[in-house]
Amino acid sequence: MRQSLRVVIMPDSKEVWVVSGSTIKEALFAASIPVSMPCGGHGRCGKCVVRVSGKVSEPDDAEIARLPRGIKDARLACVARLEGDAEITVPAASRVSIEKIVSRGRTSRRYRFCPGIMKVFLGKKDPRKMKTLLDDFEIGIEDIAINMMDASLMDSDLRMDHEWRLGLHTNATLVAAKGEIVGFEAGDTSSECYGLAVDLGTNTVVCSLVDLNSGRELGVTSTVNPQVMHGDDVISRIRFSKTSGGLEMLRHEVVHLINGLAGELAGKLGVPRNRLYVCSAVGNTAMQHILVGVSPADLGRAPYRARLTSSVETMASRSGIGGHPTCRLLMPPPIGGFVGGDLVALIISQALQTVKTPVMAIDLGTNGEIVIAAQGKMAACSTAAGPAFEGERISCGVRAIGGAVEDVKITKDKIELKTINGSKPIGLCGSGLIAGIAALLRKGVIEPNGRIKTRGEIKNKWLGKRVVHGKRGREFTFSSRPLIRLRQGDIREVQLGKAAICAGVTVLSAIAGIKLKDIKTVLVAGGFGSSLRASSIRRLGLLPPEFEGNIKVIGNSAIEGAKIFLTSCDAREEADRVVEETEHVELFSRPEFKEEFYTSMGFPEPGLRK
Ligand code: FES
Repeated sequence: MRQSLRVVIMPDSKEVWVVSGSTIKEALFAASIPVSMPCGGHGRCGKCVVRVSGKVSEPDDAEIARLPRGIKDARLACVARLEGDAEITVPAASRVSIEKIVSRGRTSRRYRFCPGIMKVFLGKKDPRKMKTLLDDFEIGIEDIAINMMDASLMDSDLRMDHEWRLGLHTNATLVAAKGEIVGFEAGDTSSECYGLAVDLGTNTVVCSLVDLNSGRELGVTSTVNPQVMHGDDVISRIRFSKTSGGLEMLRHEVVHLINGLAGELAGKLGVPRNRLYVCSAVGNTAMQHILVGVSPADLGRAPYRARLTSSVETMASRSGIGGHPTCRLLMPPPIGGFVGGDLVALIISQALQTVKTPVMAIDLGTNGEIVIAAQGKMAACSTAAGPAFEGERISCGVRAIGGAVEDVKITKDKIELKTINGSKPIGLCGSGLIAGIAALLRKGVIEPNGRIKTRGEIKNKWLGKRVVHGKRGREFTFSSRPLIRLRQGDIREVQLGKAAICAGVTVLSAIAGIKLKDIKTVLVAGGFGSSLRASSIRRLGLLPPEFEGNIKVIGNSAIEGAKIFLTSCDAREEADRVVEETEHVELFSRPEFKEEFYTSMGFPEPGLRK
């Protein structure tokens, strides 16, 4: 029989019991302490480092190669197995936390306010005024009388009420959704009508609590998606969903998170949870599938089809999302394949369906989604940019947590690292990585083909001294204490992401028959895009030179779209039309995409861009 082991997690001082032979990852999971697992826990990325005291399995050569040098008790949480009671210390850099989650964005159109939910206090309302209100919802006064006989529509206080049993009750509030009476609540609760908008990202989740009487956002909160324990990109999430119990586990994790964030917001704002009547969730295609428990497996193999092809409107309780018993869950349809509801949210929030002159919008994330719009016509595609822009799969990369380097400047004689929170640098997050590579290109440390030059080839002697030979080729030292080094392989990862975006942009505009120079507005959405400097975008050639001066950063368009869907049934209908009318371009089947991809791998030659 396998022995039960006591494991204490520090500095949280949490105690859990696991069976002997469990991985440290499993113990951390049992303690609900999410640790960054970019490679999905396959021992390849070396990002899940923890310190262990106690009896654990011996590390093999592959693990040793990925452990930081000079720390004796360091182990990879996904590989090391517990063989006795142990104490595990999880350092901040391995923890899943993001301090800079972009939770707002810009919108460019107001839609008619029509959330599709109404509450009317039956007591004091002038019957004529009430009739007008009810007419909007196509509810007759006689419907109220009939429905008031239905005990299942009463909240628990009303059910206990003697007056109601005698059919005399007017001290109640009627709740109607989409022309149907869905409940009666004791007393006047008409001012308490709320909705929850959710941006369901692969790595982060944002929740916004909205007053459905006014459309006003009352509060917003965000955190890391705990599913990152199973890998940091959509493909690893899909792969995990195919394992036994995997889909249910993913669904449970994200629903638990949404309920936690909603509870936190409601508690802070004094909003009763059972007054939440609508939840609108927007995410990439795989995440939307997972939320409603539909397998995203088909997205993981050619021809990469989505099973959900239309908008979702279902009872939120079916997915486990808390709120009023009749709370509805709304999700926009995907456009096709990996072009998901999050891009539909972007289109609606920017009203791209109405633009006359060409506009291109790019959601820069692990999965880059691109749309081009003009004269009511739209074409959209997705392109696998990879997680490098979020600081993942980069040897010195970290997420946007405190201490992450978000900007790099190289002056005449020194390197300046600007960190989130101004704390001690721990690694480069996406924007720091881009800024760092751009700075090294400007100083001639990196060649346009991405190669780090040798010491002798670099004109600036003090910069040349920072180039070292590591096990996997040349590395550039941004900081020696703490050690932050950019490897040759890291630059290649960025080149792959950049090439995917550039090729997607070029091929999509060609298919739409629009020249790049005619696109006068380029909208960049997503958390990563928000912290980028325009000069770094230019120097890296992240976007074509024709876009120079036309780029506008719009922040988190997914949450803005989710809020619009929550408050406007008109917008929801427009979203359905947008999906029907948008051409879905499948880049993987296009030979010109491959050609463009390879030609976009290099950085612009010096002199072409500054
Ligand atoms: S090495 Fe453990 S998650 Fe990648």
